[in-house]
Amino acid sequence: DDNDLKKIVSHAKEYGYVFPSSEIYDGLSATYDYGQYGVELKQNIRQYWWKAMVQMNENIVGIDASIFMHPTTWKASGHVDAFNDPMIDNKDSNKRYRADVLIEDFIAKIEAKIQKEVDKAAKKFGDSFDEAQFKETNPRVLQNQEKIDTINARFKKDIEEEDFVDLKLLIEELGIADPVSGSKNWTEVRQFNLMFSTELGSLADGASKIYLRPETAQGIFVNYLNVQKTGRMKLPFGIAQTGKAFRNEIIARQFIFRMREFEQMEMQFFVKPGTEMEWYQNWKEKRMNWHKSLGLGDQNYKFHDHLNLAHYANAACDIEFNFPMGFKELEGIHSRTDFDLKAHEEFSGKKLQFFDSETEKSYVPYVVETSIGLDRMFLAILATAYTEETLEDGSSRTVLRLPKALAPVKAAVLPLVNKDGLPEKAREILDELKFSVNAQYDGKDAIGRRYRRQDAIGTPYCITVDHQTIEDGTVTIRERDSMEQKRVSVAEVVSEIETAVDL
Ligand code: GAP
Repeated sequence: DDNDLKKIVSHAKEYGYVFPSSEIYDGLSATYDYGQYGVELKQNIRQYWWKAMVQMNENIVGIDASIFMHPTTWKASGHVDAFNDPMIDNKDSNKRYRADVLIEDFIAKIEAKIQKEVDKAAKKFGDSFDEAQFKETNPRVLQNQEKIDTINARFKKDIEEEDFVDLKLLIEELGIADPVSGSKNWTEVRQFNLMFSTELGSLADGASKIYLRPETAQGIFVNYLNVQKTGRMKLPFGIAQTGKAFRNEIIARQFIFRMREFEQMEMQFFVKPGTEMEWYQNWKEKRMNWHKSLGLGDQNYKFHDHLNLAHYANAACDIEFNFPMGFKELEGIHSRTDFDLKAHEEFSGKKLQFFDSETEKSYVPYVVETSIGLDRMFLAILATAYTEETLEDGSSRTVLRLPKALAPVKAAVLPLVNKDGLPEKAREILDELKFSVNAQYDGKDAIGRRYRRQDAIGTPYCITVDHQTIEDGTVTIRERDSMEQKRVSVAEVVSEIETAVDL
């Protein structure tokens, strides 16, 4: 819940994972800075994705396109005309909201009511409970479901037809109040483009308006033939990219879940028209397996198939994750047809066709896209890893049970005391270890406190050098989650850690 999120936010700050941006100036809303551990975790996630997408797939290659693109790119992609959110202001609080989010939140509240009924009944009937049957027959559930369906139908029609007059009426009829002030005094609904713009060149020599990319995908589309030709790629093939994207999100909330500057990891898979559904299913499955293999718990993921499709898509879904604020979009998988490439052909006047040597025909490929937010993935991992435990002796500890392969620091080397040659021995071990994994030396404070500190940053292993080390060349390795310790010879310590943190 929100409390969990608050704890994670403050832990992330206290332990050098995520800081509010420009904090000394009271921060800038919806922007965050990654600290010394955050940057490592982020890099490890990026690499984990890159390895699965590029390194493990012979027919996928990467690129790194620039953030600035020719402004016509965004005309062609539809972002200039259609990348808008319907906004509404509250006249009393002067707060601005996304009209669609106000309605979605309202629906979510009714959904929560239904869930409450279901949970209550499940508890009452135990093993014999049939959830589907209950939902189909319980009058209160049915009534609420009908309410949701009615709101949804009207809401979707309004959005599709851009009927903002009715959208405002709907908000009023539902009695939706400003979450801050409780006021129901709303302005009309207006469109608000989410792209940031700036000027290229100085004003004197005829400035022209350019945009900060709102998605990395377009850098892939405009380079598709460059890569195809120079890489001698045959369909189907993919191009992957990670990088910053920018959106002028109005509601800045939920920590790094929705930011104005964020990072995407996207892959466009170019396929023969007519085969896109097969590939869409294939990527859906592959991406879900990738997520689950990380070990955050299979029950934390679900698909959300889009029923209302964007004009360029013929199939789309999200992979949702169970964040502290509930199930929310983590990744999108879209079958984008030939919409983007065709639009770029039209606007640039350049052919973007693939010559199929088997059929001796040229055509514009179809595209299946996988798109995940790196920061959201970071939040998913951090939130799931965060654990407060009461130990057998009654004391408590906070531990980040991060997947070991992604942990910022893989091992800490700790001299039991700062004398008798123990620090020197510890440094020797660190010097060897740091060639293969990110490791750190920690000699300050009592050993127990050092263990707690490493638990809090999620370090999977602590290697302790004690007096026995000097005598027989062994150290203890303490494992983060079980807190179990075992003795291992110094000669084996590096390979032991390397194997243990390998995914
Ligand atoms: N090229 C397709 C595309 O950009 P999207 O659903 O708009 O699709 C893809 O974005 C992913 O990017 C989302 O699933 C989410 O993980 C991430 N994302 C989008 N907006 C974001 C924001 N404001 N802050 C953080 N992550 C965001």
